[in-house]
Amino acid sequence: MRVTDTGGAGTAPGNAPSPSPAQPLSPSDWDWSAWSTMRLGQVEQALQQWVCADSPAGLGEAMRYAVLDGGKRLRPLLVLAAAESAGHAVGTAALRAACAVELIHAYSLVHDDLPCMDNDVLRRGKPTVHVRFGEAQALLAGDALQALAFELMLPADDSVAPELAFQLCRHLALAAGGQGMAGGQAIDLASVGRCLTQSELEHMHRLKTGALLQNSVLMGALCGRVPEAARDHLARYGSLLGLAFQVVDDVLDVVADTQTLGKTAGKDADNDKPNFVSLMGLAQAQAYAQSLITDARVALDASGLPQVHALHALAVLVEGRTH
Ligand code: IPE
Ligand code: IPE
Ligand code: MG
Ligand code: MG
Ligand code: MG
Repeated sequence: MRVTDTGGAGTAPGNAPSPSPAQPLSPSDWDWSAWSTMRLGQVEQALQQWVCADSPAGLGEAMRYAVLDGGKRLRPLLVLAAAESAGHAVGTAALRAACAVELIHAYSLVHDDLPCMDNDVLRRGKPTVHVRFGEAQALLAGDALQALAFELMLPADDSVAPELAFQLCRHLALAAGGQGMAGGQAIDLASVGRCLTQSELEHMHRLKTGALLQNSVLMGALCGRVPEAARDHLARYGSLLGLAFQVVDDVLDVVADTQTLGKTAGKDADNDKPNFVSLMGLAQAQAYAQSLITDARVALDASGLPQVHALHALAVLVEGRTH
């Protein structure tokens, strides 16, 4: 589903590429292929520009390697889809938020693959960042990507209103930190070799993966001025989708091959990590993911928002993904 862009070294995050004005699509002519091509093009172009090569001593190169040329870009697509759900044009703030979430995600993958965590050598079909650049540089690339994510939402110009920038930074910090992704990763490491109950496993998944995915929807909703009542429904959609995403990841770890995944298959079993397949078996894990996605789409319809085609399509994509 990815559109690949080629581009030169980036420019400073302050110099924003402008997203083309939103083209609200009516239900009758809504077209996933056109929508995703347009949005992925915007995201790839912005990441190419904003993730600069100019950090010293090879750090910029490691950062670009971690972010560019790979990845489904699900989180930025969720931001942009939620940003247009109330029918407003998608502007620079949403594009900045979309890229910021992807940078946090990319940093989390770099650290997740380190020998002290999952010890993985393949990511997005390429050698992992620490294999290519060394462990210290991988650690620093993750650190710098995390900082850059927040810098993107705090541009020197007035392209993100201060109150919106505050809200976006606060949401992203909460989703990435000790009560979100990083906390979930800590639980993941502490769970090696243990049998977790379903509620313990769900708690871990909601933190390590779900928090950032739900937050992508909520940051988009903030950018798109989604009314508060509808935001609650989007929060539920994001929470269910986020959990489903990691259940599918657990399933793919068992059923998919390394080449299709672009990362090493069978890693959870190798590392003695509890996951949904080890908890409930393959068929039930697959059925559970499906039921979560159905519930997510029900929540989306309950929002009453006028433009939710892309959010529906992304839920279908999460359920059916092969990598
Ligand atoms: C992989 O996420 C890590 C998890 C949170 C399970 P993705 O499957 O979204 O990875 P990319 O961005 O497409 O590489
Ligand atoms: C990683 O979960 C989640 C984060 C990076 C926060 P996994 O360890 O299952 O992800 P993969 O399978 O390596 O992509
Ligand atoms: Mg992991
Ligand atoms: Mg891993
Ligand atoms: Mg996994």
